[in-house]
Amino acid sequence: MAEAATVEELVAAARDARVRARATYSNFPVGAAVRCADGRIFQGCNIENASLGLTMCAERVALFSAVAAGCHHITAIAIAGPGSDPLSPCGACRQVMLELAPDADVILAGDEEHRVYTVADLLPDAFGVADLGDSAE
Ligand code: THU
Repeated sequence: MAEAATVEELVAAARDARVRARATYSNFPVGAAVRCADGRIFQGCNIENASLGLTMCAERVALFSAVAAGCHHITAIAIAGPGSDPLSPCGACRQVMLELAPDADVILAGDEEHRVYTVADLLPDAFGVADLGDSAE
């Protein structure tokens, strides 16, 4: 588990990213921040589109940004939604976390508290690369 100061820094980065959300249609801004093993932090916010299905969640924007910048080991991801309670990530983002950040701490930040989960907590009995078997070779 990450140090308390590290958690606070990542939560602050997620809240900061939330301000840049393009939540035009839902009015539901979300921010996320990913920490890499080398200490770098990558932020993401949800980005909506008039063609609604093209919307991308904050978590995936942050995860994809980290990978695109060459981050090979993601150690934590913090998520901050618009309400005062911690926001639970959607199923699609959980599946992407399993692929890109399988051993990350997932920090769900509320105004008064944050909750920390593993990806396995959030996505039990997951479908993953092992299920592809020989097909993945
Ligand atoms: N959203 C996220 O960014 N992350 C989640 O885990 C849940 C939902 C966004 C997508 C959409 O822009 C808005 O919140 C409402 O669903």
